[in-house]
Amino acid sequence: MNKKTVKDIDLKDKKVLVRCDFNVPMDENQNITDDTRIKAALPTINYLLEQNCKVILCSHLGRPKGEVLPEFSLKPVAKELSKLLGKDVVMANDVVGEDAKQKAENLQNGEVLLLENLRFHREETDNDPEFAKKLASFGEVFVNDAFGTAHRAHASTEGVTKYLPAVSGFLIEKELKFLGDAISNPERPFMAILGGRKVSDKIGVIESLLEKVDVLLIGGAMAYTFFKAMGYGVGDSICELDKLDLAKELMQKAKDKNVKFMLPVDTKVGKEFDPNTESKVVKNSEIPNGWEGFDIGTETIKIYSEELQKAKTIIWNGPLGLSEFEQFAVGTNSIAKVLADLDAVKIIGGGDSAAAIEKAGLADKFTHISTGGGASLEFLEGRKLPGIEALLDK
Ligand code: 3PG
Repeated sequence: MNKKTVKDIDLKDKKVLVRCDFNVPMDENQNITDDTRIKAALPTINYLLEQNCKVILCSHLGRPKGEVLPEFSLKPVAKELSKLLGKDVVMANDVVGEDAKQKAENLQNGEVLLLENLRFHREETDNDPEFAKKLASFGEVFVNDAFGTAHRAHASTEGVTKYLPAVSGFLIEKELKFLGDAISNPERPFMAILGGRKVSDKIGVIESLLEKVDVLLIGGAMAYTFFKAMGYGVGDSICELDKLDLAKELMQKAKDKNVKFMLPVDTKVGKEFDPNTESKVVKNSEIPNGWEGFDIGTETIKIYSEELQKAKTIIWNGPLGLSEFEQFAVGTNSIAKVLADLDAVKIIGGGDSAAAIEKAGLADKFTHISTGGGASLEFLEGRKLPGIEALLDK
């Protein structure tokens, strides 16, 4: 990485403002249901504590759009973080208000303060310079460790770097190393598995990966747009009728570039969008009217599993079916298990596929699971991430 990290700057005894991505899932009682992103921030926070810094953390949670809404409070994160760090985390009742200022002033070296949800102020997402300046006033140095938010040019990711020396934390460094190495220097055969609902969400990443991979395996609802483009009926499946030409172009491009473009040969269809709906496996060309495709089929699982045995590097982004419903999570879980046993570099590009692998208890079998959904996708597309671009060059 050509950006400075916490190791490239003197932080001893400094006041440090750290942007984390504590946008974690919670249930209706504000219990954190997955603390992966909090754990991922620990190496940087612990390093700053070793440097005897005053650590002022900030993050967004959800999209409260400028309103102060208690269900979007970061208080549960402060509690969880205290547990993980084994020390108290002071929680501010506001972001840049009197309470936060007071608590920051009283903060001692080796102590941690967490500001309230940045998105309680619309100025955060507007990248308002005055708001960024107020945030910057909390620190002498800014550390960005929020990889999951690095694709957003917000006050706390981009704006603030105009007022403080800005470096990356260990998480951003690690994410760029794993995602970057896999993309720029893969051991071959290099295969990508792409799932998700829409072709339109993945055009950029498909185009970019077609330049790099040997094999592209498609799953998820976007497969139905490709089926339709091939002239098959898709029943009630999700299908982007305005993207059929694009789907044909992408298949042609794969052919031109000699990339093996694999689509499911069969699919598991259901009657209704319901976890217990009646279901059956049918050939990709034989989806009946009144049925909707929700997962890859058994034959596809077999064919994909065999193909993946040959891979030396694999990137996976997006679940292969409706993985939140048990009976349609079979494709995603089966492929996850196959990958778990493979001797290859295996990178999961964040978001729902990462959640599915965590849920299956297979996380430790992968080389790297990105903490960024949208951010890792934009990185794989080859786009510049503003939160990283804004950091000091080495
Ligand atoms: C994410 O969960 O992808 C990040 O925290 C960014 O959240 P956002 O899409 O609401 O900006």
